[in-house]
Amino acid sequence: MQRLIPTGDAARPVAFAEVPQPVPEPGEALIKVEAFAPNRGETFLLEQPRPELLPGKDIAGLVVQAAADGSGPGIGTRVVGHPAQGGWAEYAAVPTHSLAVLPDSIDSARAAALPLAGITALRLLRTAGSLVGRRVLLTGASGGVGHYVTELAVGAGAELTTVTSTPARGERLAELGAHVVHEVAAAQGPFDVVLESTGGPDLALALSKVRPGGLLVWFGQASRTPVSLDFFQLLGGSEGVTIQHFHYAGAPYGSDLSVLVSLVEQGRLHPEISRTTDWARTADTLVDLRERRIRGKAVLLTGGAR
Ligand SMILES: NC(=O)c1ccc[n+]([C@@H]2O[C@H](COP(=O)([O-])OP(=O)(O)OC[C@H]3O[C@@H](n4cnc5c(N)ncnc54)[C@H](OP(=O)(O)O)[C@@H]3O)[C@@H](O)[C@H]2O)c1
Repeated sequence: MQRLIPTGDAARPVAFAEVPQPVPEPGEALIKVEAFAPNRGETFLLEQPRPELLPGKDIAGLVVQAAADGSGPGIGTRVVGHPAQGGWAEYAAVPTHSLAVLPDSIDSARAAALPLAGITALRLLRTAGSLVGRRVLLTGASGGVGHYVTELAVGAGAELTTVTSTPARGERLAELGAHVVHEVAAAQGPFDVVLESTGGPDLALALSKVRPGGLLVWFGQASRTPVSLDFFQLLGGSEGVTIQHFHYAGAPYGSDLSVLVSLVEQGRLHPEISRTTDWARTADTLVDLRERRIRGKAVLLTGGAR
């Protein structure tokens, strides 16, 4: 079968290779991958790939071999999955605890856009607590995670301000009900909750806009610039603020995938996909994602997707 493997070349980070089909563990189903979606974080791992790296965490497709231990969906079931690796291929072995069944109304392209970014959004918002009537600031909002957080937070009753580099990158966020600004300094505080994922100078600036006793959840460093904080900045301003680190990871993912599928089916969550193309264009798409030329998600089709 064909698999995309890392090249270590920044201009063409992956290339096709002919490899054996994966052999599933007893608790894994074999999926014929119809669509997959990369995440910007994965593009960074490809810069200096470790030798055993098999990229690909977000997939949708068809079960062609059910798990030997009897768990999970049977042959012919359409699914979305979040394997630990190996999803950018014709076939992937996925633990059944990290699969969710897809209804006919959700095609594989939309489904593949859900896992990592959608699970992050769900778990991040649970970490933030109830948002009804809360003033919330979200930085780095124009990507995959940002669109999901925005739709779910507004739907949960938050008054949300988002930060994007340009009006075009914030267009859909505004349609979803967010107030969009283009630098953290322009966000009108104080905020009850700040969801910060760009790092560098943005974190300290965002922190200065949290109300005393409020919450800042730090979940990324998209600028790739370390943060420095001045203790004395907190005195007389955002006193008693909680700064909480967040990381989405922790299997099983199947139940959260089912929540996301159900929200999409009910029309309460709309994956923002600005590029859907054949997986022959994966290398270009990874470069565009890394260089901030993709709004929301990009989805690659392996052929035969519905
Ligand atoms: N903690 C976790 O478990 C977890 C899980 C998934 C993702 N994340 C983090 O969440 C963030 C969003 O992830 P994603 O997959 O949605 O990525 P994405 O689709 O590429 O979005 C990245 C966002 O960061 C912004 N950005 C990029 N470079 C920036 C810079 N130099 N200065 C300011 N803003 C910058 C981009 O906004 P503009 O181009 O509009 O400025 C974009 O909104 C990332 O930081 C990622 O590492 C964390």
